[in-house]
Amino acid sequence: MSLGSVRQEPGAASRALAARAVAAVLGAGVTVDAAFGSLDLQNLAAADRSQVKALAFGALRWHHRHRRLLGLLLDRPLPGRDRLLEALLSVGLFQLLDARQPEYAAVSSTVAATRLLGRPRLAGLVNACLRRLLRERESLLAEALADEEARYSHPAWLIGRLRQDWPGDWQRILEAAQEPPPLWLRVNQARLAPQDCLARLQAAGIAAVPGPVPGALRLEHALPVADIPGFAAGELSVQDAASQLAAALLGASPGVRVLDACAAPGGKTGQLLEQAAGRLDLLALDVDAGRMERVRENLARLDLAAASCVADAAATATWWDGRPFDRILVDAPCSGTGVIRRHPDIKLLRREADIGPMARRQRELLEALWPLLRPGGRLLYATCSILHEENQAVVAGFLAVHPDAQPVEPLAGALPGWLRRTDPAGWQALPGDAGTDGLYYALMTRRPG
Ligand SMILES: C[S@@+](CC[C@H](N)C(=O)[O-])C[C@H]1O[C@@H](n2cnc3c(N)ncnc32)[C@H](O)[C@@H]1O
Repeated sequence: MSLGSVRQEPGAASRALAARAVAAVLGAGVTVDAAFGSLDLQNLAAADRSQVKALAFGALRWHHRHRRLLGLLLDRPLPGRDRLLEALLSVGLFQLLDARQPEYAAVSSTVAATRLLGRPRLAGLVNACLRRLLRERESLLAEALADEEARYSHPAWLIGRLRQDWPGDWQRILEAAQEPPPLWLRVNQARLAPQDCLARLQAAGIAAVPGPVPGALRLEHALPVADIPGFAAGELSVQDAASQLAAALLGASPGVRVLDACAAPGGKTGQLLEQAAGRLDLLALDVDAGRMERVRENLARLDLAAASCVADAAATATWWDGRPFDRILVDAPCSGTGVIRRHPDIKLLRREADIGPMARRQRELLEALWPLLRPGGRLLYATCSILHEENQAVVAGFLAVHPDAQPVEPLAGALPGWLRRTDPAGWQALPGDAGTDGLYYALMTRRPG
C-alpha cells in the first residue's frame, strides 16, 4: 500500500494497515510489534500511526469473540481461509462493538479497505457482514457470548489453566486482561522526589496519580514518552508498577556485585542502579543482541553505567569470570500470561504445549545460575506469568533438590500488602488487584557453608 493511498483515504488506509498487522499475527505467527515493524508505520503521521495501532490492538484483544461472531455472520467459511479478510472483519467488528466509532464511517472505510488490500470483489461481503451486525447486534452477541472463549475472548486452554490455578479469581483476571493498560511511570528517586515529579506533571497539564508502589505514578491518559517532562533527562522511565518491586525485593545496596541475568530491555537494570545511586558492580546479560542495545540506550538516558554482555545466561562457562555475585536477578523468559492486556497477541501466539518447555527452560536458568551466588547472597526469580507451572512449581522443584537454597523474607517495607503469598518463597501480583500487570517473584538465599 502506498503512502499516497494513506494520504488520499486515511480512514481506509489505517483499517487496511491494521488488518495487515492482525493477519501477520494470525497467519505468520509473528508478534504484532514485529508486524508493525515490517509495515513501515514510521512514514505515517503520528495520529494515523496511533489509529492503526489502536485498531490492530483492539481487533487482537477481541479476536476470539470476533471469530465466533464471524461464524454466525458468514454463511460459509471465508474463501481459502483468507486471513487478511478475517483480520479486516475483526478490525471492523472492533470499531462497531468497542471503539464506538460513527457507524457509517466505520463501515464505509472498512469496506473501502478491501480495495487497498487487493480484494475489491469482497467489498460486498464485508459490507453485508458489518451491516448485519448492526441490525442484529443484540441477538448475535447473545448467541456468540454463550461460548466461553468468545465471552472472555481468551483461548479455551488458558481459561482452563486460570480456572484451575486461581479458582476464586479467574474471571476477574480474564476481565482485567481485556482492559487497555495504563501507562505506569517510575520516578528516578535518586534525582527527584515522587511528589515533586507529580507536581511537575500536573503543572504541565498531565493528569497523574500515585501508584501502589513507592515511586510509581499512573498517567490518566497515555502519551508519547517524548512529551513527558523529565523522560529524556532520565528522571522518569516507563515501567509497570508491579515490575518496580524487583529492586526493593532484591535489596542490592551500594557496592555489591549483581548479576541481572535476563536484562533486556533494562527496566529492572535501571531501577537497581537508581536505587543504589549508580554504585553497583552490575553485569547486565541478555541472549538477544538487539534487545541488549535497548539496555545500553536506557542506561545512557539515565546516565548510569553497567557492564553488559550478550550471552546465554545458562552457558555460564562462556561468560562468567569466576567471581561470585551477591545478588542475582533471574527475570526469566516466560509465557507472558500476566501481560496480556499489553500484548493481546499472546493469546493467539502462545499454545498450551509451550508452557512445559518454558518451565524447563526457567528451571535450567536457575540451576545454571545458582552456583554463581555467593553463600549468604540472594537470588530473585521473576516472571510475568500467572501460571503456577512457571512460578511456584519451578521454585518448589528447585528448592526440593537444593538443600543450600532457602526462602527468605525481603527487607522490611519491600512488600506491599496487595501482593499475594503463593508459596514459602513467592508472591504473585495478579492483573486486576492493584492495576498492575501480573508478575511472580520468589526470593531465595544461599545458606552459608
Ligand atoms: C522478561 S524479559 C526481561 C525483562 C527485563 N528484565 C526488564 O525488566 O526490562 C526476558 C529476557 O530474557 C532474555 N533471555 C531469554 N533467554 C535467555 C537466556 N538463555 N539467557 C539470557 N537471556 C535470555 C530475553 O531476550 C528477554 O530479553
